[in-house]
Amino acid sequence: MDLVIDELKVFSGTAHPELTKAVCDYLDIPVGKSEAFKFANDNTFVRILENIRQRDVFIIQPTCAPVNDNLMELLIMIDACKRASAGRITAVMPYYGYGRTDKKDQPRVPITARLVADLLTAAGADRILTIDLHAGQIQGFFNIPVDELTAMPILTRYFKAKEISDLVVVAVDIGISKRARDVAESLNAPLAIIEKRRLGNHDRTEILNVIGDVHGKTALTFDDEILTGGTVVNAAKALVDAGVTEVFCCATHPVFSKEAPGIIAKSNFQEVVVTDTVPVPADKRNGKITVLSIAPLLGEAILRIHKGNSVGDLFHD
Ligand code: R5P
Repeated sequence: MDLVIDELKVFSGTAHPELTKAVCDYLDIPVGKSEAFKFANDNTFVRILENIRQRDVFIIQPTCAPVNDNLMELLIMIDACKRASAGRITAVMPYYGYGRTDKKDQPRVPITARLVADLLTAAGADRILTIDLHAGQIQGFFNIPVDELTAMPILTRYFKAKEISDLVVVAVDIGISKRARDVAESLNAPLAIIEKRRLGNHDRTEILNVIGDVHGKTALTFDDEILTGGTVVNAAKALVDAGVTEVFCCATHPVFSKEAPGIIAKSNFQEVVVTDTVPVPADKRNGKITVLSIAPLLGEAILRIHKGNSVGDLFHD
């Protein structure tokens, strides 16, 4: 199939139209015309309002809250595109909801991240483009190509520009330590690790230990997502108790529960830096929260996928 740039079409689900608009501005193309709404019986309905026959179609939809509605709408959009004879369909999921349910770590529990992968494939997605999956192994839940981007260069560039001396990067749990190691390397800083324990299935955690030398340093915590804010705010407390002078936070996905912004506002953090993989509405923003745009990275990746150029080269000089 011969694909040319005029045949690239980018559509938006209803989860994050601002991000889709910013990506299309980067690509210098209009957002594809579509509509999505619910009938009185709560059934989602979608219509693609332009010809997409044999086009290279990208549908941007982070599966953030309301997760099930956003996921179902994405599946229905993929189905509509497939039945409209799109040439190739890429589901662009800047945030992959259900990513945390990625293993059978208790008896009789689902692996919903895998179920979502099966649903996307059954709906007709040909490829997935996503950012900072909760666990890299989720890529392997798919039998179609998955391009996983990382927001790390965007976050580290922001902190490099601050020229903080005596910085220590802190992984807020052991699971994120490998990625935090990369952040530390890129900022030329040492790494410390917080040992955290999740308490049951109720979004609560406790900190057991700070591993590494943090006394007298400025700490930068790193995590993939912030939900209730409990993990990072408890980490900030533990770091202040361990003698850090200042503490900053960075994370890719601002999933932010209703309480999270208030908890962050009262925390020890100087600043919490996130990206816009998930929308952060005005009522969830405050003076401590900085949102960096992921749109140029996403736009560039879409262009490279469309043209058959390397996506990996985006991250290696
Ligand atoms: C968990 O393993 C993740 O990496 C995050 O630490 C977690 O999703 C953050 O959740 P919360 O903000 O509710 O502590």
